[in-house]
Amino acid sequence: MWRYAALLPVDDAPVTLGEGGTPLIPLPTLGARWGLASLFAKDESRNPTGSWKDRMFSVAITRARRAGRQVVALASSGNAGASAAAYAARAGLRCVVFTTAGAPAAMQQQMQALGAVLVATRTPADRWTLLRAGAERLGWSALTNYVSPPVGSDPYGIEGYKTIAFEIAEALRWQVPSWVLVPTCYGDGLWGIVRGFEELWRAGVVEGQPRPVAAEVFGPLAAALAAGAERVAPVPAGPSVAFSIAAGISTYQALHALRSAGGRAAVVTDDDLLAVHAELGECEGLFAEPSAVAGLAAARQLRRQGVIGEDDPVVAIMTAGGLKDPAAGARVRPAVPVIEANPDALVRVLRDHYGILVEGGAA
Ligand SMILES: Cc1ncc(COP(=O)(O)O)c(C=O)c1O
Repeated sequence: MWRYAALLPVDDAPVTLGEGGTPLIPLPTLGARWGLASLFAKDESRNPTGSWKDRMFSVAITRARRAGRQVVALASSGNAGASAAAYAARAGLRCVVFTTAGAPAAMQQQMQALGAVLVATRTPADRWTLLRAGAERLGWSALTNYVSPPVGSDPYGIEGYKTIAFEIAEALRWQVPSWVLVPTCYGDGLWGIVRGFEELWRAGVVEGQPRPVAAEVFGPLAAALAAGAERVAPVPAGPSVAFSIAAGISTYQALHALRSAGGRAAVVTDDDLLAVHAELGECEGLFAEPSAVAGLAAARQLRRQGVIGEDDPVVAIMTAGGLKDPAAGARVRPAVPVIEANPDALVRVLRDHYGILVEGGAA
């Protein structure tokens, strides 16, 4: 992504692990099933720590190092924490991550492996209390929000997400898609992507801007848009298969980004996410974290509702890979059968367990 350094707020050597430059992958099978002639996934799982957060923390940690910070700290459900820890390690900074006890095991392991000082709290709000104390009493550099209602994360870091827009436009030969669909929690990524497209448009590099869609699980942005509100109010939230985006609140920057570009919000359910997660793996060979398919699930929903047209070019951001939370989809997968080394048993298990009939077999 540092090919676009001139458009990023950094003029010294970046702290980098080779982030960005991720592929824009056509999804012909899902597109045909859903009635979308031109459907793509921007596969952000290819980033160094497996999620799009690397774009944000490569920039944010570069700035923190330049500002002479010794300790960076953040609240994270996992992906941001892993990313911040990796770049902090690279820059020789200490990284403190406040997470919640239910964070997926793989993410907790990843954060610790990357040197994070990891502390779990009982509620998400408790993370903000401690982060605030770290920032205000101990002088730590807070890279994410700690006030309520929340505001966007480190503003330098947000700039890193602009490169997603730049890469999409470049891959489409400086055309923009009609729609860009973004799994959204606090909306840092959404905000950065919208800004990236806006900068390209203002510079005269592209002719228009895509309509952004915030793909949410509980819908605080959808509610704020429907109410014509200036600020995002909390909505009821609970557990979700999409652990990384399961919050009932978002930021005013995300709301502004949607409004400024004629966007909308779509609320997707756990059933939608699990169905799309399975289809993406089985039909297109891509293993995503369930949160990361929210944009695709929103594309399917908006196509069904006739909001997205059949010929509209559509890009969904696949924000993280499936190994981040591999057990999340387990409830819709069959248990792995254990059988004897016996061909008849094999034929039987193929038939009974997987519904596959083997021709000429004993079954
Ligand atoms: C995989 C994944 N997708 C989407 C998001 C949402 O990011 P944001 O808070 O910038 O909306 C996150 C954030 O944690 C994430 O980990």
